[in-house]
Amino acid sequence: MVNDPRFLRAVHLEKTDCTPVWFMRQAGRYLEEYRRIRERHGLLDMFKNPEIAAEVTLQPLKAFPLDAAIIFADILLPLEAMGIELEFVEGEGPVIHNPVRTGGDVDALRVPDPEEHFGFLLTSIRWVRAELDGKVPLIGFGGGPFTLGSYMIEGGASRNYVLTKRLMYEQPASWNLLMDKLAVMLASYLLAQARSGAEVLQLFDSWAGCLSPADYREYVLPHTRKIFDALRQAGAPSIHFGTGTADLLPWMREAGGDVIGVDWRTNLDDAWNRIGTDVGIQGNLDPVTLMAPWPIVRQRAREVLDRAGGQPGHVFNLGHGILPATPVDNVRALVEFVHDYTSGNPESRIQNPELGT
Ligand code: CP3
Repeated sequence: MVNDPRFLRAVHLEKTDCTPVWFMRQAGRYLEEYRRIRERHGLLDMFKNPEIAAEVTLQPLKAFPLDAAIIFADILLPLEAMGIELEFVEGEGPVIHNPVRTGGDVDALRVPDPEEHFGFLLTSIRWVRAELDGKVPLIGFGGGPFTLGSYMIEGGASRNYVLTKRLMYEQPASWNLLMDKLAVMLASYLLAQARSGAEVLQLFDSWAGCLSPADYREYVLPHTRKIFDALRQAGAPSIHFGTGTADLLPWMREAGGDVIGVDWRTNLDDAWNRIGTDVGIQGNLDPVTLMAPWPIVRQRAREVLDRAGGQPGHVFNLGHGILPATPVDNVRALVEFVHDYTSGNPESRIQNPELGT
């Protein structure tokens, strides 16, 4: 097997033959082969069955020449072992039946031992690593403390995070205890994934961008920093991702991460200037752009790559997860375009074979 460390080299800010590319949520409903399995199984059952989780993890790698795999799991899974009743409701997303609303609720949360409670995930990681056979690295992941805390408090997705911010402002001791329990859980959860074979660890603090810089600094940063400090002993590099984070970027960087993930609302070069070019950057094509005609996708992808300017440390990705309605042919053409354009072919006219454009 060819050993192709392009993604790991970029994460370490080393020069690469071309820019590595993978997609957040790359295993999912936009793939017909995923939908065929999903028709027959509930989501939680899929995550907890290592055979299915390993197969689904590898589906996008079989379809496209991606530079990394990400283990098929969900950021909300570890909450169950803390005492949260979690359900994925068809057409609605995650629902938590016993949301955390009081100091007593926070006190009652358990901090699970990963080997004891997440054996299914650690087994999936071992199996996928064996299957990948060194061809591309495997990413393990967890949710950021703010994002997980907000699901626990709101009971599901939220627009304004009113209950979350009220707990934060009105009961700071309970808030800090909640964040601390999540930070301790996440550090051990991510370290266990690294011990089982995850070579890079990503923290998805997807919704931290709803906070002002001052609130992020006061209520989240110290807890997130604790996680990244603990990850140093993993020997696996880390990626710190959020959306809507333009003015939070310097603070996210301070909290930790060898690579910072950014969404499309910030230009990649501006974002990189804000965090400093001594850390890597991941992103940042708008996932909805992938629904556009191919020439527009190619143009926007080229703009992202031009803003990165070939500087070592760029990992190409979308600015958020790939959406279910995404045309597969645009995904394939995009992966090929990123590789071709950045391997010294500035005139790359990679076409979408289906459309001939
Ligand atoms: O990237 C990958 O391929 C790995 C798998 C992965 C999933 N969830 C599987 C999943 C990852 C990295 C996640 C992260 C995740 N989960 C986040 C952070 C990233 C982000 O998108 O902000 C969040 C906020 C969640 C919580 C979550 N899980 C929501 C809001 C939903 C419902 C929305 C949706 O897309 O349906 C899920 C369900 C979920 N997790 C699916 C997948 C593939 C949908 C699957 C299905 O219904 O078949």
